[in-house]
Amino acid sequence: MGEGFALPRAGTTDDPVRLAVLVSGGGSGLAALLRYQQTPRCHATILVVADSTDAGGLEHGRDAGVRTVGVPLPMDIDKSERRVAHERLLHAELVAADVELVVLSGYMRILTPWFVSRWEGRLVNIHPSLLPDFPGAHAHRDALAAGVSVTGCTVHLVDESIDSGPILAQRRVEVLPDDDEEALQERVKRVEHVLYPEVLDRLCSGQVSL
Ligand code: GRF
Repeated sequence: MGEGFALPRAGTTDDPVRLAVLVSGGGSGLAALLRYQQTPRCHATILVVADSTDAGGLEHGRDAGVRTVGVPLPMDIDKSERRVAHERLLHAELVAADVELVVLSGYMRILTPWFVSRWEGRLVNIHPSLLPDFPGAHAHRDALAAGVSVTGCTVHLVDESIDSGPILAQRRVEVLPDDDEEALQERVKRVEHVLYPEVLDRLCSGQVSL
């Protein structure tokens, strides 16, 4: 496990690892991370990127004084090439900003091998289930349908498959008898908002080895 993954350098509070956070939606996870980084850490968010110009998450970046950019799909490009063309735009933003670690936080696009291979080891995701259970876009719905009594969240390095790659941490969350998708999602998110910053601390201070 872990071959080919080049992890980020160890940051310090004086010279934190420079993060870009990629969002598609409201960005409550991004907001939690930005709050956490108000106290000096070994990582700092220097760029927020959304896959649209109106994602709610962009607002959190602006409020925190972080550079934000919306990179929508280039609709003028033929559909067969659009995904990679979009990722090239994204990649150019990350490189231009001298980003060292890409943090997916509710980023709803499946990344192609082209992008993943460029960031492998420096590309991290949080998923709202105990992977490998319930990958995909409907983790809570799937967990409720399966009738499990415990679910949770997983922080992992991203590889070329969906919701897969070396697991850095997981935390369990009980499923309550009257949970619906929304209630479960909210409870899991509260745990995510603590877990993700903590894992980034470990990853950005040289405490993770594969
Ligand atoms: C989180 O539950 C995360 O695990 C998943 O997408 C959700 C993002 O929520 N990948 P938010 O946009 O941060 O509120």
